Amino acid sequence: DNGGSVFDMTLLQKQSNVPMHFIWPKEDLVPAQEELNTPLVDLEGFIRGDEEAPEYAANLIRAACLTHGFFQVINHGIDSSLIRSAHDHMEALFKLPMTQKLRAKRTPGTMWGYSGAHADRFSSKLPWKETFSFPFIDNKSEPVVTNYFKSTLGEEFKATGVVYQKYCEAMKELSLKIMELLALSLGVDRLHYREFFEDGCSIMRCNYYPSCQEPSLALGTGPHCDPTSLTILHQDQVGGLEVFANNKWQTVRPRSDALVINIGDTFTALSNGRYKSCLHRAVVNKYKDRRSLAFFLCPREDKVLRPPEDLVSSDGTKNYPDFTWLDLLKFTQNYYRADEATLQNFT
Ligand code: SIN
Ligand code: FE2
Repeated sequence: DNGGSVFDMTLLQKQSNVPMHFIWPKEDLVPAQEELNTPLVDLEGFIRGDEEAPEYAANLIRAACLTHGFFQVINHGIDSSLIRSAHDHMEALFKLPMTQKLRAKRTPGTMWGYSGAHADRFSSKLPWKETFSFPFIDNKSEPVVTNYFKSTLGEEFKATGVVYQKYCEAMKELSLKIMELLALSLGVDRLHYREFFEDGCSIMRCNYYPSCQEPSLALGTGPHCDPTSLTILHQDQVGGLEVFANNKWQTVRPRSDALVINIGDTFTALSNGRYKSCLHRAVVNKYKDRRSLAFFLCPREDKVLRPPEDLVSSDGTKNYPDFTWLDLLKFTQNYYRADEATLQNFT
């Protein structure tokens, strides 16, 4: 079964045809028609502490979040050499022989580890990709990511772990800054969301999409909304991220100096439904392998997700029942398990 075993994408890539369980339904494969208008938010002034800068950034973010929930940030303060290094280590990771990658094999029913083409939520079709996912907790006394790499792949992956430890720390810090801007943009206390997310366990995922002989039939990541709160993505120059907005698929053109930010379902609930969590997917390329780094900000599992009072009283109603991130996680993981059961029929 696909939960217990892994598809070797390097082998599938060499076959003349895409196997049947990688062929997605036609409605999911409708090509993109144009480029998505994502505001480019320059964070330089905000990070420097300029007085007018937060309002400028918050206004751009607000407009994007009311329509589709995607925007890009530049001058975000993250060292370009750290991003490059995270990409280099990702490239090396996915090039490892399968026997070595399997040391970190994802445990079925969990999100952590290496996986080849495991089923996404709500679909029994397989994504044309390999992923490597690990948890990030901001723990001053223990470098959790460094230790994760050492304990799964071995001591020789310490350097990779150190790079991802730094990368995750930088992403966490940036996502908390963006939480300040989201608060300002919603007219609530600037620190409200920042403080809410400080102690959560976030998810870091490296995505590898091998080139595909029939890219019009397969998908790297099927259409989905992120169940998490905020996603920070760095995609390489190949391109492939697409968003379903204004009733059509639209591309997000890669920019190496930018990070793509999007709202997840959990933040939609925290904004009392004002901010959109939008359907998106990743397409594959006929000639080029593609890679992306995704950091998903999540709240602590047991915290109740409830919009701030200000938003509820100005809206007049609370649009979602109270729930915890753990409730939502269990729900999505039951789907993973169901998918794995379906997939047993394929192998
Ligand atoms: C995702 O949304 O899960 C992946 C997006 C990407 O790789 O561009
Ligand atoms: Fe996503």
